[in-house]
Amino acid sequence: MRAAVIGVGAIGRNHARLYNEIENVELVAVADNDPAAAARVGGQLHTRSYGDYREMLAQERIDAVSVSVPTMLHHQVALDCIAAGVNVLVEKPIAATVAEGEAMIAAATKAGVKFTVGHIERFNPAIIELKQRLDAGEIGRVFQVHARRLGPFPARIRDVGVVIDLAIHDVDIMRYLVGSEVSRVYAETAQNLNTAHEDLLSGLLRFDNGTIGVLDINWLTPTKIRELQVTGEKGMFLASYLTQDLYFYENDYVNTEWDTISNITGVSEGKMVRLRIDRKEPLRVELESFIRCIATDTAPIVSGADGLHALAVVQKIVESGEQNRAIDL
Ligand SMILES: NC(=O)c1ccc[n+]([C@@H]2O[C@H](COP(=O)([O-])OP(=O)(O)OC[C@H]3O[C@@H](n4cnc5c(N)ncnc54)[C@H](O)[C@@H]3O)[C@@H](O)[C@H]2O)c1
Repeated sequence: MRAAVIGVGAIGRNHARLYNEIENVELVAVADNDPAAAARVGGQLHTRSYGDYREMLAQERIDAVSVSVPTMLHHQVALDCIAAGVNVLVEKPIAATVAEGEAMIAAATKAGVKFTVGHIERFNPAIIELKQRLDAGEIGRVFQVHARRLGPFPARIRDVGVVIDLAIHDVDIMRYLVGSEVSRVYAETAQNLNTAHEDLLSGLLRFDNGTIGVLDINWLTPTKIRELQVTGEKGMFLASYLTQDLYFYENDYVNTEWDTISNITGVSEGKMVRLRIDRKEPLRVELESFIRCIATDTAPIVSGADGLHALAVVQKIVESGEQNRAIDL
């Protein structure tokens, strides 16, 4: 499988490194409109580099490409790759607007190429394990999902605020875990330091099936915290996206019905277990999955529609914060 990367900045150079390492994949070229950046990454990974991605598409035979240019350019670059008959993984968010995302999906469908969006947390081993356990009914009905994604401001992000850049990860994961669509959002957002856009979100989501989502997201906390709590009838899971740890807190109510307190609250503390997870680099798992879907002609784990849903929800969250009102989707 012949792979290439367009845009070898902060995330793109990791795509290139990993294609170079994955078995049965050859990194044939990288492109960046900063030719020095392209040449540097190309030199390090012993592959060809281009200052113009269109030239790369014309010169090289490519099966799979990662599009990791700034979000505003996802649409144009992805359309050019699709027109060249290349299978595309575009970084999140799918595009700058829903209309652009729709056009990309339509073009990929028409051209018969695979199209997926880099919602990397789907490939986080802790999330994969959590999804399996939720689907197996281990905590019964899910009442609430609560995400915390806190940390310092990365100076390179200039074109969007923290909602579009970071909250989109948790919105996608919540949709995936809950298995239901967001029907209403309400957000308090604020712009405090360093950025032309919001850098703080305290947000609420309502899913069609009644589950409540809580988003606590910022670029203001001087330490990185990325956690997800899922509370249900039979207990709570706590996942760390960063350390890939997964904990289960049992609701022992079912076993202790004689207990006066638990009869009142319906909840009582049971055992707490740290589950064993085989840690893996999520981006590597994501790229391996993309390559596999091309090789086996199967649907990608993250569809274009998934990318579009996540974008539509975060745009409504931004709108809700600006207009100080709840918004139905
Ligand atoms: N999945 C994740 O966790 C994750 C993490 C970081 C970034 N991203 C996404 O990846 C994208 C890139 O983000 P980044 O942080 O790597 O940005 P970045 O600015 O570090 O890198 C972007 C690169 O694209 C290049 N570029 C710009 N215009 C180009 C063009 N016309 N042709 C070719 N190359 C061009 C730039 O020179 C730069 O090297 C964004 O959409 C961002 O949302 C995703």
